[in-house]
Amino acid sequence: MCGIVGYVGKQQAYPILIKGLHRLEYRGYDSAGLALINANDELNVYKTKGKVVNLEHFVEGKDSTGCIGIAHTRWATHGEPSQINAHPHYSKTKNIALIHNGIIENYADLKKKLQAKGIEFVSDTDTEVLVHLIEYIYQRDKSNMVTAVQVALNQVIGAYAIAIIDRNNPETLIVARKSSPLVIGIGDGEFFLASDASPIVEYTKQMIFLDNDEIAVINLKSGVKVKKLNNVEVTPEIKEVMLDVGQLEKGGYPHFMLKEIFEQPECLINCMKGRVNVDLNDVKLAAIIDNKQTLLNANRIVILACGTSWHSGLIGKYLIETFCKIPVDVEYASEFRYRNSVISPNDVVIAISQSGETADTLAAIELAREKGAFVYGICNAVGSSIPRVTHTGSYIHVGPEIGVASTKAFTGQVTVLTMFALALAKAKNIIEHDKFLEMIKELSLIPDKIREVLKHNDKIADLAKIFTYARNFIYLGRGYCFPVALEGALKLKEISYIHAEGYPAAEMKHGPIALIDEEMPVVFIATQNSLYEKVVSNMQEVKARKGRIIAIVNKGDHKLQELADYCIEVPATVDSLEPLITSIPMQLLAYHIAVCKGKNVDQPRNLAKSVTVE
Ligand code: G6P
Repeated sequence: MCGIVGYVGKQQAYPILIKGLHRLEYRGYDSAGLALINANDELNVYKTKGKVVNLEHFVEGKDSTGCIGIAHTRWATHGEPSQINAHPHYSKTKNIALIHNGIIENYADLKKKLQAKGIEFVSDTDTEVLVHLIEYIYQRDKSNMVTAVQVALNQVIGAYAIAIIDRNNPETLIVARKSSPLVIGIGDGEFFLASDASPIVEYTKQMIFLDNDEIAVINLKSGVKVKKLNNVEVTPEIKEVMLDVGQLEKGGYPHFMLKEIFEQPECLINCMKGRVNVDLNDVKLAAIIDNKQTLLNANRIVILACGTSWHSGLIGKYLIETFCKIPVDVEYASEFRYRNSVISPNDVVIAISQSGETADTLAAIELAREKGAFVYGICNAVGSSIPRVTHTGSYIHVGPEIGVASTKAFTGQVTVLTMFALALAKAKNIIEHDKFLEMIKELSLIPDKIREVLKHNDKIADLAKIFTYARNFIYLGRGYCFPVALEGALKLKEISYIHAEGYPAAEMKHGPIALIDEEMPVVFIATQNSLYEKVVSNMQEVKARKGRIIAIVNKGDHKLQELADYCIEVPATVDSLEPLITSIPMQLLAYHIAVCKGKNVDQPRNLAKSVTVE
């Protein structure tokens, strides 16, 4: 979590840093700060509690000049969100300022040692330890700053992306990373720095993605030099990043989340482009073609993910077990990494992550690799960490997702998992030809069917007004739509702060039914699939207890229109593709309820888009 931006060049750094922080606010937004070295080599640090806009107000009228600077937007881990705990942190002499994304696990120990040397701490953060440690080593060893950073980082346990500026060296940024991401942009006589490519892309497409245990010295005159923490020099690979600035803007929508919900038809077309071929009746994923034998030999597939990605993983299990007849386990990455998970070289692990940076998922991948498993990544963020540590994988190609609550990344992940299941089933020769053709045809129709659902946006907005009173919600579904119920409940919790539970509809009678009264809204995913009649029976049970039913139904389902209090119609498709359609009204309902309640839907409290801490 936390976003990092940096600049050194000929331009004034302040506007570049502020714009960059806005782009990275999805990573954290409880406080923000920046440090600039002006033409007199004075180092000014400004920071405030709250969002980047508060920082802008705070800096008004103050000296914001300087062609070198670093900036930070925080998501608190150690120490409450406050001005004092915001980054950058000064060193004792105030010659150095440092920003950090990650967690220093042995900070308490290091802090004690530094305090014993007479160093006073002003904040409650783990980060402040770093800046004092670096300066202490620098003064003690009378070395240069880069060596001091190296020596300090070798004493640190934990995760970090850091950036440092030093007023005695006003043309140099020193940066380093371990586990938290860091990207360097190479412009024409200027250099940029950020936690991801989004703040850099409008200035240059040439980027270096720093690797773990690497430290980079970015000097205005001599450029970028990279070495490992053990001092071995490395030649950095410069990549060209094709990201459209337009994709990062709201494009006329009031929120990124709504824009991203509406983008889904286009996104899924992009996701399937070159992969699903209706004319040739084929589905191809390069990663399956390249690793066919390994995948065919899989005894078992283990899906690892967190949050919304875990929900898409659960749909993946249903798809892969149905079509490929391979047993699939779906695990929270955070649980997998700390229990005695049994993994063998004949297992294939699928790691799913929108950001490609989730700390628990990364650690789980590392563990699976150590045990010999082959790891397949499903990610959205190109150039992020997970695609670099997996053996192979497929990008979902839905474009940058800025709203913290995941929408288009979810449907993109489910689409890739569908293509995965179909392509592997075909490679295994266990799917009937007609079924395969039906699936391809139906899959290609999904974007248009989502467009139809989006036409109900206004109706769902009206419905949302009725339910702003609610303090609880229950979401129920069966089969492929059970994970959709989980995801619908998660969306509502995340952005409206209404407590919501997702359940398999039949499980309701084993507990949640006790909660149902005339106040309780119950959302049913009740499309006419093979479990339809069973879901209708569950609905009757809720009706008998006077629950208020909102049902997602297929067009023209008059029976349910009578039974439910409110219905949202969606087009029919095959059972296995229903999540792609039925998750859309879930997203819209959560969005509109949160808007009615006046919540910040794009940046909900306490959450962050990229969770780089465990
Ligand atoms: C955070 C986000 C969620 C996301 C989860 C996993 O909690 O707020 O939207 O589902 O992380 O993130 P990933 O990037 O690994 O999919």
